[in-house]
Amino acid sequence: MVLPEICKSIEPYFMLSDDKLKTIVKYFCEEMNDGLAAYGHDVAMVPSYVPGVPDGSEQGTFLALDLGGTNLRVCEIKLFGENKFEIKQQKYKVSDALKQGEARVLFDYIADSVDAFLTDIGSDLTTDDNEPLHLGFTFSFPVEQTAIDRGSLLTWTKGFNAKNAQGKDVVLLLQDALDRKHIHVRCSALVNDTVGTLLSRSYQHGPALIGAIFGTGTNGAYIDRTSTVKKLGDDKIAALEAGGEHAGEYMVINTEWGAFDNKRRCLPASIYDNKLDRESINPRKQAFEKMVSGMYLGEITRNILLHLIDSRLLFDGNSSKVLNTHYGFDTAFVSRVEGAKDDAEVRTAIQSMLGVESQYIQAGDIELVRWAVGIVAHRAAYLAATAIAAIVLHTEPNRREQDKKAIDVGVDGSVAEFLPNFESRVREALKIVLGEQEKIITIGLAKDGSGIGAALTALTAKKALERKAA
Ligand code: BGC
Repeated sequence: MVLPEICKSIEPYFMLSDDKLKTIVKYFCEEMNDGLAAYGHDVAMVPSYVPGVPDGSEQGTFLALDLGGTNLRVCEIKLFGENKFEIKQQKYKVSDALKQGEARVLFDYIADSVDAFLTDIGSDLTTDDNEPLHLGFTFSFPVEQTAIDRGSLLTWTKGFNAKNAQGKDVVLLLQDALDRKHIHVRCSALVNDTVGTLLSRSYQHGPALIGAIFGTGTNGAYIDRTSTVKKLGDDKIAALEAGGEHAGEYMVINTEWGAFDNKRRCLPASIYDNKLDRESINPRKQAFEKMVSGMYLGEITRNILLHLIDSRLLFDGNSSKVLNTHYGFDTAFVSRVEGAKDDAEVRTAIQSMLGVESQYIQAGDIELVRWAVGIVAHRAAYLAATAIAAIVLHTEPNRREQDKKAIDVGVDGSVAEFLPNFESRVREALKIVLGEQEKIITIGLAKDGSGIGAALTALTAKKALERKAA
């Protein structure tokens, strides 16, 4: 089938040329440098105060809390050493009312969930009489971190918009809620899910350079020389390098790459992206995330399909309730169509997931839907690669010995795990940008980064406390 003329005008926004890819990577490197040099930039380049990655020998039992993915999770993690661990966990739903209501109510709910976990599931954690349980808090939103257990919220993302939280220290918000309810737990570490993924991948698989999330949202963390984080100032850098606080010569940096190109200098924003952004609860924010992450791929596809329907090129001009609903379907539809073995499977997905009546689906429609889904998925993967490539290029002069010959990237999230062809397309784009260097990159799934990473960070924090007390 020959695709309608309109497709030709849409494609350039999605099928990125080699030059476009390289330009995006160049801007990415610039924005990363800006974020390291000064506060207040979109790509915030947040120091995590985590000095390096684990080697798999770490042991201990910790409580972890994970807010920022699809659900709130409370977990107990046992690290056995020898790269082994065990997780006991419980998920708690976070309603839209909680996400967008008063922050105090949200944090009370989180504290109640910790309490429910300790009561219902029980914990093997015991402490000496008055010693509270140590908890690692994976909080997957942009936070300006000032210590391993301190950080104020810069902005909400991914459908959260709770009031009176921005600018506040999220560890204190949580600790206050725990204390108000007399829950004997101490939040001793704050960690982003990407930092957790980097630590988790290293714990299970050996030293990684990058941890990335391609899930509801997207972001990446990597290891850099502490001295490149210029905005910390010379005195602080010197203190950190001396190993005084929670860092040494190297530190894990949370890039917050989801906000890359908020200024719209280079990302290929089509009318479908602009519509999505305008109608979102955070317009003009998270520009990169809105083209790459799971929360948005369904919505971009929906915007394209509606345009084709309104142009009477699809389903004979007929829409459906799902298609007419804002965020009516999610990335699961994109994954399903991308992975479909034959046209019959696409037809079934259109009927069952989009609610389009069978009589309106003509033969050519299947191909058109495949095309729309395909370009959205293709661009997401190619853009994901630009972020990884930028870190690879940025770290080139400063990499630790072990990262010179091999670069390992740990990934987690629904897009990385379930979107067919995601990794192969990422590799394709990495090759275009990095040439031969692509060969030294390995990419592997690091499941449960949020839990294991929080446990490992809580361990780092605990050791530092013990050193201080000694
Ligand atoms: C947040 C990041 C987070 C990412 C993946 C983004 O929206 O800003 O902090 O790491 O989602 O969960």
